[in-house]
Amino acid sequence: MELIKNLQWRYAVKKYSEELVSEYKIDQIIEAINLTASSCGIQPYRLIVITNPEIRQKLAEGSFNKQIQDSSHLLVFAAFNKVTSEYIADYTAMMEGQRNLEIGALNDFRDTLISFFSTQTPEQNAICSSKQAYIGLGTALIAAAELKIDATPMEGFNPEIFNEVLGLTEKNLHASVIISLGYRDTANDYLASIPKVRLPIDEFSTKL
Ligand SMILES: Cc1cc2nc3c(=O)[nH]c(=O)nc-3n(C[C@H](O)[C@H](O)[C@H](O)COP(=O)(O)O)c2cc1C
Repeated sequence: MELIKNLQWRYAVKKYSEELVSEYKIDQIIEAINLTASSCGIQPYRLIVITNPEIRQKLAEGSFNKQIQDSSHLLVFAAFNKVTSEYIADYTAMMEGQRNLEIGALNDFRDTLISFFSTQTPEQNAICSSKQAYIGLGTALIAAAELKIDATPMEGFNPEIFNEVLGLTEKNLHASVIISLGYRDTANDYLASIPKVRLPIDEFSTKL
């Protein structure tokens, strides 16, 4: 399985080279993330792709992760704060359109989702959305590895700075997790030449 080789090849890069990733490859990663499964299928997060150096400098403030600034691209997974009834109605209407269904065919499904999300607290809405964003993060790591693009998933950033600089709060979003993309600087990244550490497979998994 080629995927296993790709996953052995990848690691969370600490130091990137100056080489930039082509927009074509970035677009393939974005498409892979968009194709990721999400609970109820409603994709309650958005992806922000940043190359602008001034914005990245602001985002990197106070973070130990130099990769926020020093990489080809930075992807921000911005999860919904609230899953609104309007959003669910729009999304299910889009589903009807894409599946050539009659208008209103998914009304029962829509109403079930609306009642489910509206009985959750705002905090539960945000946590649920953030969990879906993390599934997208997993896809991004796998897609990048297949393209032989290096990546670093990161939680080590200041979400308040991200929310403010990217104007996320007014868009009903919050920075959930981020990933940098680029190419490893093999000579200057101490992690490039040391073995990957993982549990023995029998300790990690149980077959019943
Ligand atoms: C959700 C998440 C958050 C992470 N946050 C950071 C981070 O802030 N900075 C960093 O250098 N690596 C971060 N990592 C990378 C992990 O340290 C790394 O994946 C782990 O040590 C396993 O090593 P490998 O990915 O190189 O195989 C994060 C990984 C995940 C999945």
